[in-house]
Amino acid sequence: MDYFPLSFDLKQRPCLVVGGGEIARRKIELILRAGAKITVVSPLLNQELETLRAQGAIDHIERKFEEQDLDGIYLVISATENTSVNERVSYLANQRQLPVNVVDSPDLSTVIFPAIIDRSPLLISISSGGKAPVMVRKVRELLEATIPQHFARLAVYLGEVRSRMKQTYSDIDERRKVTENFVESGVASLTSAADRDAAEKFLFADPKARSQEVSQGEVYLVGAGPGDPDLLTLRALQLMQKADIVLYDNLVSEQILDRVRRDASREYVGKLGRGAFTAQETINDKLVRLAKEGNRVLRLKGGDPFIFGRGGEEIESLIECEIPFQVVPGITAASGCAAYTGIPLTHRELSQSVRFVTGHPKDGHVELEWREFAHKNQTIVFYMGLGGLKSICDQLISHGRAATTPVAVISKGTLPDQITIVGDLENIYDRITAHEISRPTLIIVGEVVSLMPGFDALI
Ligand SMILES: C[S@@+](CC[C@H](N)C(=O)[O-])C[C@H]1O[C@@H](n2cnc3c(N)ncnc32)[C@H](O)[C@@H]1O
Repeated sequence: MDYFPLSFDLKQRPCLVVGGGEIARRKIELILRAGAKITVVSPLLNQELETLRAQGAIDHIERKFEEQDLDGIYLVISATENTSVNERVSYLANQRQLPVNVVDSPDLSTVIFPAIIDRSPLLISISSGGKAPVMVRKVRELLEATIPQHFARLAVYLGEVRSRMKQTYSDIDERRKVTENFVESGVASLTSAADRDAAEKFLFADPKARSQEVSQGEVYLVGAGPGDPDLLTLRALQLMQKADIVLYDNLVSEQILDRVRRDASREYVGKLGRGAFTAQETINDKLVRLAKEGNRVLRLKGGDPFIFGRGGEEIESLIECEIPFQVVPGITAASGCAAYTGIPLTHRELSQSVRFVTGHPKDGHVELEWREFAHKNQTIVFYMGLGGLKSICDQLISHGRAATTPVAVISKGTLPDQITIVGDLENIYDRITAHEISRPTLIIVGEVVSLMPGFDALI
C-alpha cells in the first residue's frame, strides 16, 4: 500500500491554497464541499475564484506566497504552474509537518486527492497513488453505476435513528445484524413518507421479534470457485459480507478471502498445507456449535461445495441439529479450467457426455469402473488425479481407449500462474514428470482437448 486512505474532517478548518488559476479552482471546489475555511494566496484570481471570493466562500491574500501564510493552517495545497514556488511550499509545509498536496507532483506531496463517489454521508475514495488515473476512472464508472442513489438517503436515515437504535438494541452485534437485515430487505428506498413509515415499522414496531430473528445463527455453505476471485457469484459475495466467522479450505485463495467482511474472524480448516489437518467430523461439529452460539458462519469451499467438496456431509449434520443453512453453488474446477484453456467439455461431434471423476489413488492405483470410460467421444475430468496419472492412463489404454486420446493437465486453473500441459494417454505422464507442476491440478481426457487453441503446436 503506497498511501493510507483516511478521511479528513475539514469543517471550518483553515486550509491554504497557493495559486489562483484553474488547477487551484478544481481543488478549492472539492474541499469547499467538505466545509473547509479556505484562504487563497495569489497575486491574481481567475473569474470563478473571484466570484467565490465575492460570495464570501473563500478569503484572498493578493500577493505571492510567504512563509507566515502557513501559520494556523491544517492543510496546504500548492496549485501553481511555477515549480520553484511549489517546491518551496512543499518544503516549508514539510518542515512544519503539515499535510501538503502539490497538484500533479506526488513527489512533493504528503497527501494526494482520491477520486470521490459522493453519496453523502456515504463516501468512496479511489486512488491509484497517481499511477493509473485511467483505472481510477474505470473503477469509479463501475461503482457509480452499481451503487443506488437511494443509498445516500438510507445512510442519512440510519444516522438520524442511530441513538434510538442504540437504545432499542443495546447489543452491538444484534444492532448490526438488525440494520443489515433492514438494508437488505429493501423495505424502504426512503423516497416518500410511506417509505419512512415502513422503515420505522421494520426497526421499531416489534424489536423483540427482530432480536429473535438475528439471534439465531445460520450456516452459508458457499462455493468460492476455482481460484479467480472474479468467478465468485454475486450471492457468494453478499454472504461473504454478512458472515461473522469464516471457515475456509486450502483451495480458497488470499484474493478471495480479501473479499470477506473485514471484521469477520477467519479459521483455516483445510486438509493440506497452511496448518494442521482438520478432520471432517471436527468441521461438522464446529459448524453446528458456532451456529448454535448465534453466529452467521460462512463455510467457504473451493469450486462447488457439492462436487468432491464433502458439502453433503456438512449439511447432514446441520439438518440433524436443525440449523438453518443456505448452499450457494460455485464454479467447479472442471468448468473453470475448461473455460480458461478453451476446451469445450462437450461438443456435437467429439463428445456427447462429460464425467467428473475422482482420480485419487490408493497405493498408486486408481480404482474405477474403467470399462465405462473406454469408448470414445466422452470427456472424463479427473479431480485429485495428479498422483494417479500413470495408473489412469494405463487403465484407460488397457480397457480400450485409444492411446492417442488427447489429454490436458491444468495446474492452478483460472489463476494468473495457470499452466496447461497437453499430450495423449501414451505420453502425458512423461511430459508431466519433465515439468515442475503445482497442485491443484485437473486432468481432462477426451477428443475435445484437441479443440484447445494452439493444441497442434503443443502436441
Ligand atoms: C477436493 S477437490 C474439490 C473440488 C471442488 N469442490 C470443485 O468443485 O472444484 C480438489 C480438486 O479439485 C481440483 N481443483 C480445484 N481447483 C482447481 C484449480 N484451480 N485448478 C486445477 N484443479 C483444481 C483439483 O483436482 C483438486 O485436487
